Amino acid sequence: MCAGREVAMQRRVLGEIAGLRQAGRLKPEVPLGGAQGPRVRIDGAREVVNLCSNDYLSLANDPVVVDAAIEALRHHGFGMASVRFISGTHELHRQLEQAIAEFVGTEAAIVLSSCFDANSGLFDALLGPGDLVLSDELNHASIIEGVRLCRAERVRYPHADVDAVEKALQQRPKGSLAAVVTDGVFSMDGSVAPLRELAKVTEAYDAILVVDDSHGIGVLGATGRGSAEHLDLATPPDVTTGTFGKALGGASGGFVAASEAVVELLRQRSRPYLFSNAVPPHVAAGSLAALDLLRRNARLVKRLQGNAAYLRARLVERGFEILPGRHPIVPVMTRDVGRTQAWAETLRAHGVLATGIWYPVVPEGTERIRLQAAAGHSTVDLGLAVDALTSAREARR
Ligand SMILES: Cc1ncc(COP(=O)(O)O)c(C=O)c1O
Repeated sequence: MCAGREVAMQRRVLGEIAGLRQAGRLKPEVPLGGAQGPRVRIDGAREVVNLCSNDYLSLANDPVVVDAAIEALRHHGFGMASVRFISGTHELHRQLEQAIAEFVGTEAAIVLSSCFDANSGLFDALLGPGDLVLSDELNHASIIEGVRLCRAERVRYPHADVDAVEKALQQRPKGSLAAVVTDGVFSMDGSVAPLRELAKVTEAYDAILVVDDSHGIGVLGATGRGSAEHLDLATPPDVTTGTFGKALGGASGGFVAASEAVVELLRQRSRPYLFSNAVPPHVAAGSLAALDLLRRNARLVKRLQGNAAYLRARLVERGFEILPGRHPIVPVMTRDVGRTQAWAETLRAHGVLATGIWYPVVPEGTERIRLQAAAGHSTVDLGLAVDALTSAREARR
């Protein structure tokens, strides 16, 4: 790059970073040493209680999962060095697809490198000009990306507003296809989408229901089958997307579970599937082992749900305002940016890692500390967090 352009670029980039810093939107990263889990090592070696991980079932460092990955690494090497349709489909990919389809309750599933990829390649593959996609305004960025990339008419509906969905479906042109897409669990609030109502409306208007259950699978429902099980839906949504990067071992990989026809079309048309390397076999093996542990051990989900209930009850006892629900995402409302930052710092000083969240991630006035319980937390860990929050509140009323 010539010197003048390099200087101009540098100035622009530094200006943008300064702008982010000034607006309080610069995201620092926490350097972890050792494995992900209910307790982690930060700042070199200090052990803290980790209440900001998506490792809901505490399987990221489970010996069974780790051993399965090591074994696969020994037998199948480090990577596929290819996309799936060239020389990248492994027996372990097929096994993982079959296992996740069976778990979700659909005919088939396709595994991609991430749920971000699953969502971003989904809508353009299924819908075209003249079709309609309705997306909840609070949906995850990967859904927004996928919807943006598709050529159908796109409508953002007000959060969880089933009436707005129904009106839009009523007005759609005859002969068009329509999809309604929602997160199963909204990760800032830990709230569950109105899936029963959405299922009813999509069925009545012949639309398909797409649910991203990244925070539901392995977390909600008596057997961890997610939001649909939690809400007692008779059948799974038409399309479920999800991640292996949270409850199911926390490595990486995502999936779309749907009918055989939809899955086959995605194999032909999903651009992230067609043009990005396959998940490494050892990651698929670890995810399979995690899924297997979940399937065979209902106590794992029970422990997670018990911990979520315990944490919520202790916080309410201490008079904290939390958003209602049963999910292990527990937003503790601070309703002030300064208070959020100060509480997060005090928590860390007391050996608890938690995320402070403020505008623009959530609306102004709804600032919060977001806690995430995991199956591997002890009541001592959770008690420590509640005590640390109480100290933070006392220090900065
Ligand atoms: C609702 C939702 N969808 C998709 C993703 C992306 O998942 P992955 O990390 O597998 O790309 C996330 C993760 O942040 C998420 O919360």
